[in-house]
Amino acid sequence: MSGEIISELDKGILRLTLNRPEKKNALTRKMYTDLTEALTGAQTDEAVRCVVLAANGADFCAGNDIVDFAEGAQAFTAEDVDIETLPVFRFLKALTFFEKPLVCALQGQAVGVGVTLLLHCDLVVAADTISLSLPFLKLGLIPEAGSTVLLPQRIGHARAFGWMALGEKIAAADALRLGLVNRVVTPDALAAAALEVATIAASLSPSSVRYTKGLMRDAESLWAVVKEEGRIFRQQLNSPEARAAFAAFLSR
Ligand code: COA
Repeated sequence: MSGEIISELDKGILRLTLNRPEKKNALTRKMYTDLTEALTGAQTDEAVRCVVLAANGADFCAGNDIVDFAEGAQAFTAEDVDIETLPVFRFLKALTFFEKPLVCALQGQAVGVGVTLLLHCDLVVAADTISLSLPFLKLGLIPEAGSTVLLPQRIGHARAFGWMALGEKIAAADALRLGLVNRVVTPDALAAAALEVATIAASLSPSSVRYTKGLMRDAESLWAVVKEEGRIFRQQLNSPEARAAFAAFLSR
């Protein structure tokens, strides 16, 4: 582990904390790799009954690290690369096929994959400070992590498209109303509220949870969607719009 992902197991609950608050917890390849190892380990470790994904600092996650993206762009966009070897897709695969309860403790700003990963969580507890944005279209990219299917399923096509295309930010009350989060609390109460639901989830029968999650979502079809989105996303990274958007961020 890099120190930018903190992993703590207590009473069957594995808490994975994004710990790069000075960069708004933007995710690097190393962080994806650490998260993947933690999730794949948790999948087979009987001592883990539930995973909580949390973040240090005022904000949850600013999405993919754009500097890291630029540095790894060549390998990421190479035509002959097997998508399943790339850190972000290894992470998305681990999320897609995760069979244990996955709880998210969400606060402050969340952007891009920091939002789409929520669609893979079983329970989301949010602070009233949240502001969720999906700038993929503005960046000349496309939504990822299965969100082209999961998001309209969850909130309807018009709301999903409007959120992405109009650059809207979703705050706590709307996130609750739209069914993106289960519960909204004050920032001070977030950790305890997430622990409370995680404790209940950890007490459930593992096989009962595994079967239920398997029936609620077809992980194989979802993974096919994630890979197809990934194919187009990688193509779009070379579009003039995406190049200009990333260059603008990097030159701030
Ligand atoms: N990748 C790399 N660094 C990032 C980052 C990202 N995705 N998001 C934020 N950071 C860094 C900033 O460069 C800044 O670093 P610095 O202090 O060394 O200059 C630091 O995190 C704080 O960010 P800042 O922009 O000052 O905070 P803010 O509160 O004003 O804005 C965001 C927060 C998340 C709205 C803004 O940082 C942003 O838009 N980030 C890019 C999000 C994005 O497009 N992600 C990719 C989606 S596919």
